[in-house]
Amino acid sequence: MEAKKYYPTKRYIEFQKNAISNSEIFWEKEAEKIPWYKRWDKVLAWEEPFAKWFEGGLLNASYGCIDAHLNSWRKNKVAIYWEDEQGNTKSFSYVQLHREVNKFASALKKIGVVKGDIVVLYLPMIPELVFSMLATVRIGATHTVVFSGFSSQALADRINDTGAKVLITADFGIRREKYVPLKEIVDNALKLAPSVKKVVLIKRTEKEVNKESGRDLLYSELVKDAETYVEPEPVESTHPLYILYTSGTTGKPKGIVHSTGGYLVYNHSTYKWVFDISDESVYWCTADVGWVTGHSAIVYAPLLHGATIIIYEGAPDYPYLDRWWEIIEKYGVTIFYTSPTALRMFIRHGEDWIKKHDLRSLKILGSVGEPINPEVWEWYYKYIGNERCPIVDTWWQTETGGMMISPSPGLELVPLKPGSATLPLPGIDADVVDDSGNSVSHGTKGYLVIKKPWPGMLMGVYKDPVRYKETYWSKFKGMYYTADYAMKDEEGYFWMLGRADEILKVAGHRIGTAEIESAVVATPFAAEAAVVGKADAVKGEVIVLFVILKEDYKPDDDLKKNIINSIRTQIGPFAAPQEVYFVEKLPKTRSGKIMRRILKAIVHDKPIGDVTTLEDGASVDEIKTSYEEFKRMLKG
Ligand code: WTA
Repeated sequence: MEAKKYYPTKRYIEFQKNAISNSEIFWEKEAEKIPWYKRWDKVLAWEEPFAKWFEGGLLNASYGCIDAHLNSWRKNKVAIYWEDEQGNTKSFSYVQLHREVNKFASALKKIGVVKGDIVVLYLPMIPELVFSMLATVRIGATHTVVFSGFSSQALADRINDTGAKVLITADFGIRREKYVPLKEIVDNALKLAPSVKKVVLIKRTEKEVNKESGRDLLYSELVKDAETYVEPEPVESTHPLYILYTSGTTGKPKGIVHSTGGYLVYNHSTYKWVFDISDESVYWCTADVGWVTGHSAIVYAPLLHGATIIIYEGAPDYPYLDRWWEIIEKYGVTIFYTSPTALRMFIRHGEDWIKKHDLRSLKILGSVGEPINPEVWEWYYKYIGNERCPIVDTWWQTETGGMMISPSPGLELVPLKPGSATLPLPGIDADVVDDSGNSVSHGTKGYLVIKKPWPGMLMGVYKDPVRYKETYWSKFKGMYYTADYAMKDEEGYFWMLGRADEILKVAGHRIGTAEIESAVVATPFAAEAAVVGKADAVKGEVIVLFVILKEDYKPDDDLKKNIINSIRTQIGPFAAPQEVYFVEKLPKTRSGKIMRRILKAIVHDKPIGDVTTLEDGASVDEIKTSYEEFKRMLKG
């Protein structure tokens, strides 16, 4: 039997050709679809690698996400349904959301936040998180959301990089009925980050927490008598909407800066194409707002479209394994967006939990954050979508601001292939290249690059233009380097093959090996550390750590625990390694670089030839000898 062919449709090819060759006209038309106070003077000012999209234009994100809906029937529709593990619920119509955001914007103004300030948010998944983001940008300030799974040290590092004066937090976060002491973590962080002068405290629970007088202010007090309307501050299109820290290949996370105009235009358009989102959609993205997916897919894109969003605070399998399916049924979710890790966890528990629920409201299913294996894709398609809903496997990054490679059923549904993110979205000039930057032939693995600027792209790395240039624009001339491996098949479809740098994706969470290594060598007993990712059936990847102890220390379980604890307190529990090995030496090149390829081969119990990672500048013989030597050492 002849294999089935899945060529891109003619309509897709034509649309894409036009979008790429007339890209400024194309993006200008897209920009006209969101509200502006003043039209831009220029669609794109491009001084490689710095892009200014829609320069001269003025807009406000809070206006676009809320006020713009108030003169239509959407005024009284639900903007947010919130639910926690216990089934407690809250809902806010657009007019109510407007009120909450305005009151808090007025309060922030009163405590001295002005246009251009950076406000740090360290919050659980509660509605106030959305209010805080929109209130901040309403008055022209910029938010930096720090995922509430980060420890006080990691929080302090991020605050210090921004120099923020105001931080918004809650007393506790709740997960699996356990109280995560967010305020206590903040108190500890602020000992290391003295720039913060005011802390706004949201009471999520009744429990008492420490309150520092003069510094800590209760959210409930602040909004009680606040104004119910604050004029949105029109900001330049290139005004930073937010900074989001993400892991790179050094120990220091990068502050990815996103613009207001370009970012919003890009997300507005791509959510239409990929999810066919409209004001009738009930949209549920299960990510945490602390990651980029939550920024774009929970807050900005759905609210710009006047959709209803679901915010769920809690673990996917708690208290029961059908918690998520129950929520889809209860609210009639039409678009569901989640990660392969979550799906793999559910697959292990069988379909009975799903069959208890009526999931017929679903129309489109999305996947993000890591490669989705074909078997998981098929399962998602069959058991969640009942073979009716297209799966959109969306490839993108914190840096890209929005989805880049994905099926786009809202525009033109190309034939799907389980496991492939399919084709670049309109206007995205993606390619796979070799070490010299030349396109590779189909079936060959290479580096994924983007050859043209796009409106959602990062404006830079906060306060570090050199790092921005070096990380993304120096490997290949004139191309954005994604640091992902990819392959194009015979029909031009893209297959994502994981990171080409030292960044891991653990349960979809992005974490740099260098960050973990520096947390380990910060302990008094570790001399050297090396971290690699090991393939895992559920989490995609888990962390394996190799440690060389200082001379006076002997390996034992207490030291192991100590090291793991140090990672937890310096980064956060999600960065804890699954396996720790004490070794006497690490395989290194003559120039002293760790040969991770060897470590990877060993943790996967594979011969060295099968494991590809970045070239480590070592000769084949050198690698082979080290590999054998290291393996013997581990076994012995
Ligand atoms: C990976 C998350 C395969 C990729 C939005 C990328 C994916 C990194 C996919 C960015 C996908 C994201 N298929 N891999 N559909 N989506 N990735 O910044 O390695 O947390 O570079 O952004 O996740 O992770 P980040």
